[in-house]
Amino acid sequence: METGSRLVALSLLLSLLSLCNSTFSPKQIVPLLYEEQLLWVSGFEGEVNTYRIPLLSFTPKGSLLAFSEARKTTSRDLGQKFIAMRRSTDKGATWSPSSFIVDDGAHIDGLNLGSVVVDEEHGLVIVVYVLCFNHYHCSPSSIMMVESLDDGLSWSQPRNLSVQLGVKTFAPGPGFGIQKRYNPAKGRLVVCGHGTLEGNGVFCILSDDHGKNWYNGAALKSIPYNQQKREQDFTPDECQPVELADGSIVINVRNQNNYHCRCRMVVRSFDGGLTLPIETLFFDRELVDPAVAAGALVKNGVLYFTNPSHELHRVNLTLRWSLTDGKSWEKKALQIWAGPSGYSSITSLDSSSVEDEKYIFVIYEKGYKSYGETISVTKIHLFGGR
Ligand SMILES: *[C@@H]1O[C@H](CO)[C@@H](O)[C@H](O)[C@H]1NC(C)=O
Ligand SMILES: *[C@@H]1O[C@H](CO)[C@@H](O)[C@H](O)[C@H]1NC(C)=O
Repeated sequence: METGSRLVALSLLLSLLSLCNSTFSPKQIVPLLYEEQLLWVSGFEGEVNTYRIPLLSFTPKGSLLAFSEARKTTSRDLGQKFIAMRRSTDKGATWSPSSFIVDDGAHIDGLNLGSVVVDEEHGLVIVVYVLCFNHYHCSPSSIMMVESLDDGLSWSQPRNLSVQLGVKTFAPGPGFGIQKRYNPAKGRLVVCGHGTLEGNGVFCILSDDHGKNWYNGAALKSIPYNQQKREQDFTPDECQPVELADGSIVINVRNQNNYHCRCRMVVRSFDGGLTLPIETLFFDRELVDPAVAAGALVKNGVLYFTNPSHELHRVNLTLRWSLTDGKSWEKKALQIWAGPSGYSSITSLDSSSVEDEKYIFVIYEKGYKSYGETISVTKIHLFGGR
């Protein structure tokens, strides 16, 4: 056959296949780093010292939104910040200039990100963050949210969710919150995060009316609770929830004090984020971890996971995948970046198009000498390697 008619035949075949639920089998996954772009570079450019804590999400209309903390004067977690955002309407090929969608003013213990949660049913994008998380010359801390009704172009004024949730110290994410796709509690927004170092644990906040009203859901508390921790105490910390096809929520958790292992904790909710039964908790020794915020995503029945895969240092950002909902991991793994790498988050567009089935996007902290140097987004072709 001529190349041209081969292509026609191929594209016919592909469009036929796209009528089926899934074109590719999970067994065919051989990921390839396909495209990479630096979205933010730290180093006192303009009004910003350091960019950290990247979040990434598609909108219901298929735009890609990236967020980060723009730390104004210091690289530390404390201090004044903006929430920086960049937007792509061509699936990550080109990006808008950076805009600042929230400014915490002169707060000495300013904002910390955060979770981005998309409400598909109402076409909303919500970003939840915390003010005064560290109680440094301020009290109490406040859980705040902003929302966009126009695909990320404009953002509401900040709203104080502590009015409904009560005053508690809660840092959402970092990563994404979920909208339940399956029962129980289809449509619920679930945002999980963690508490202070003493009052730590995984906590989830929930909304059953598209972000109008919020209430407190599950808690998996640290031990000893509300007391100073020692190395190897039980301290669940930053976390990423994903929903499995059976409607349960699996939360992959930072093991702050290396309880039991230098690896990830995993806990599961069967009631839409109301409870996290201790019987579901396990330690995934295959997912070695230096205590960091990691990425997780479920796409077409496959669970993906990213972290700096090292027991002690934030280096070797690695993508792993599981065909068994995290009970086991495939032997192959994709090294995304060998050098310094920190927090990461994964997203992907679920549509009926074959193109969108092929790619996931990973945003992560990346550097040569330290992971705080840049924030990079990489597009990964799941079936592009060999
Ligand atoms: C948020 O609301 C809580 C509870 O009403 C209040 O204590 C806190 O000061 C508020 N925070 C801000 C930033 O307005
Ligand atoms: C990077 O992580 C992978 C997956 O855990 C591991 O197999 C590999 O040995 C690591 N490489 C280095 C240099 O640590």
